Amino acid sequence: MKNILVVFGTRPEAIKMAPLVKVLLKTPEFKTKICVTAQHREMLDQVLDFFCIKPDYDLNLMKPNQTLNQLSSRILTEIDEVLKDFKPELVLVHGDTTTSSMVALASFHRGIKIGHIEAGLRTYDKSAPFPEEINRQITGRLADLHFTPTEETAKNLLNEGVDKNSIHITGNTVIDALFWGLKHVDETRKDIKKIKNFIDFNKRLIVITGHRRENFGKKFIELCDALNQIANRKDTQLIYPVHLNPNVQEVVYKKLSNNKNILLIPPLDYEAFIWLLNQSNFIITDSGGIQEEAPSLKKPVLVTREVTERKEAVKEGTVKLVGTDKEKIVNNAILLLENHKFYDYMANAKNPYGDGNAAGKIKNIILND
Ligand code: UD1
Ligand code: UDP
Repeated sequence: MKNILVVFGTRPEAIKMAPLVKVLLKTPEFKTKICVTAQHREMLDQVLDFFCIKPDYDLNLMKPNQTLNQLSSRILTEIDEVLKDFKPELVLVHGDTTTSSMVALASFHRGIKIGHIEAGLRTYDKSAPFPEEINRQITGRLADLHFTPTEETAKNLLNEGVDKNSIHITGNTVIDALFWGLKHVDETRKDIKKIKNFIDFNKRLIVITGHRRENFGKKFIELCDALNQIANRKDTQLIYPVHLNPNVQEVVYKKLSNNKNILLIPPLDYEAFIWLLNQSNFIITDSGGIQEEAPSLKKPVLVTREVTERKEAVKEGTVKLVGTDKEKIVNNAILLLENHKFYDYMANAKNPYGDGNAAGKIKNIILND
């Protein structure tokens, strides 16, 4: 039996690892254990509850507003004890967080094989997304098995000289999670009821999220100015579940609290959030995962970033980069509200991120490895 350790720490990693965790736990050839660094706490626990995942190890590492260096050093120290205790033959990490890169480094130091889920995404700009572009490059250099969501991301790795036999195109597990999640939404939940009370179904609903470090400060202020301007239209409403990062909370509540067309709420449980996405007309976000989910729900996405590693979504037309320039955000939102052809073009594009069977494919590759 092969010992496999799955490690994650933030909300999006948990959502995207959940379908794989479920499949691995059902595979008798594997002894699978789950370790959470808990780089996020509340936002991680919401996801663990929904997918009924009980970690075997919980490092409980979140501290309010800790620096990346504090977090990194604590992950390296704490994960080492888990590696010593469980002695995995394979460690699976996800994407581009501090958890992924530091756990991959610790596993490498102990000579343990590493599998990287959602491998190969690149902007090749180390300042955007910061620090994620470098996190995923570090993890990519250390990994022995690379599970890429698309052909384009596989090509990035090939161009970097990664052995082609170690690269596997599987689709993104975010779609597996979304399809499973949509089947399990309980519309009688309190948070959904509260949102239903706010929504005026005669108006167009725009959902907002944002958390990128490179947007902190001036860029977030400009984004908030744009949102206020959009919300001043009589035909729109905005709902904004605000990320718990204090750098986000401070600006957003200060700038947007007084606009009665904007509902500011704490981060929603995944279940309630995907329900909300489904009610929306379109989304304004800097999130990576939402760029991948929205096309399956036929929702256009305006991305408040200068570059994206989700280039397939831009090519297909479901995602448009608008940066954080106020005029550009407002003008594109108006275009989506007023130009039906433009809206339909974005809404009806194909989702390039897979068919919802990525977790099973990854399991089979590990079985045959
Ligand atoms: C992290 C990831 C980012 C990912 C994002 C998803 C890194 C460097 N960044 O960014 O790649 O896209 O998560 O959301 O790994 N906080 C809470 N409760 C929570 C979560 C966060 O209070 O449940 C607050 C804490 O003050 C914490 C701060 O947010 O210190 C920042 O959290 P951190 O994980 O360092 O970075 P994110 O900005 O969330
Ligand atoms: N999400 C959620 N609740 C929210 C906002 C987002 O559950 O209030 C989900 C969303 O569906 C997606 C993921 O969180 O799957 C994206 O997380 P985030 O934007 O924090 O990180 P990123 O994808 O940018 O790494």
